[in-house]
Amino acid sequence: MKKALDLTGKKAVIFGVATDKSIAWSIAKTLNDNGAEIALGYQERVKQYVEELAKELHDPFLMECDMMDDFKIERFFEAIEEKFGTFDILVHAVAFAKKDFLQGRFYEVDRKGYNTAQEVSAFSLPNIVKASQKLMNDGASIFAMTYLGSVMAIRNYNVMGACKAALESSIRYLAMDLGERGIRVNGISAGPISTLAASGIAGFDSMLELAREKALLKRNISAEDVANLALFLASDLSKNITGQIVYVDAGYNVNGM
Ligand SMILES: NC(=O)c1ccc[n+]([C@@H]2O[C@H](COP(=O)([O-])OP(=O)(O)OC[C@H]3O[C@@H](n4cnc5c(N)ncnc54)[C@H](O)[C@@H]3O)[C@@H](O)[C@H]2O)c1
Repeated sequence: MKKALDLTGKKAVIFGVATDKSIAWSIAKTLNDNGAEIALGYQERVKQYVEELAKELHDPFLMECDMMDDFKIERFFEAIEEKFGTFDILVHAVAFAKKDFLQGRFYEVDRKGYNTAQEVSAFSLPNIVKASQKLMNDGASIFAMTYLGSVMAIRNYNVMGACKAALESSIRYLAMDLGERGIRVNGISAGPISTLAASGIAGFDSMLELAREKALLKRNISAEDVANLALFLASDLSKNITGQIVYVDAGYNVNGM
């Protein structure tokens, strides 16, 4: 396959592959097709699927890692150090909230549900950066997946909107922390895509329909569209872009009426 960009020699650590529909899976394939070596950190419950899927990658490194477990995160990056030494690309495509809190009234969320969603979906970003920054090469690129529900109230997105707001703010603070090493930190704000995580949001199918109608380009986006932006952000072509939230939503977010 002809490479769009050359990531040969770069090493990418990717969190968030669960199924072949996962945005992280599209990103992993695209970065790998363009020459990057890939390590996947996945949840124990999806081990079998990930091992099967990863057969499509060239010599991947696979290891279980849960964002709720600092011990596992430490072991994971020790293994990365052994495998890669240092690395260049860190991808955060992880989120979780109980289904009960992705419907109805936002204020119905309870303390545990709110804290768990924040811990997995937002705190996890600075936490994995802390655990791995010493292994990152200067000039590395970090990016995380987010959604418009961070800055606008979107029916049923509820607690995840609060998580994405925290995640986007964390992106800016991490960009400040790491700027002097030339390490960039950005967010990709994607339009709705049918995935496992999306299926937890009440009325997701009508979200897809509305998004298509209101998008300036009059269509939905795909995980491959996100992976193409990821490829650019992973490459040195984006070396002066940091602290940004870049939208891949067919122009939905700028359509005022
Ligand atoms: N699908 C969409 O419409 C959409 C739009 C914008 C942003 N996003 C974001 O993209 C990212 C990826 O989601 P997706 O849509 O590909 O769905 P997905 O279900 O394929 O991916 C979510 C991932 O989070 C992982 N995860 C959940 N809890 C975890 C934990 N405790 N530790 C480690 N991993 C954990 C899951 O194993 C899964 O791999 C998420 O941050 C999501 O919010 C999705």
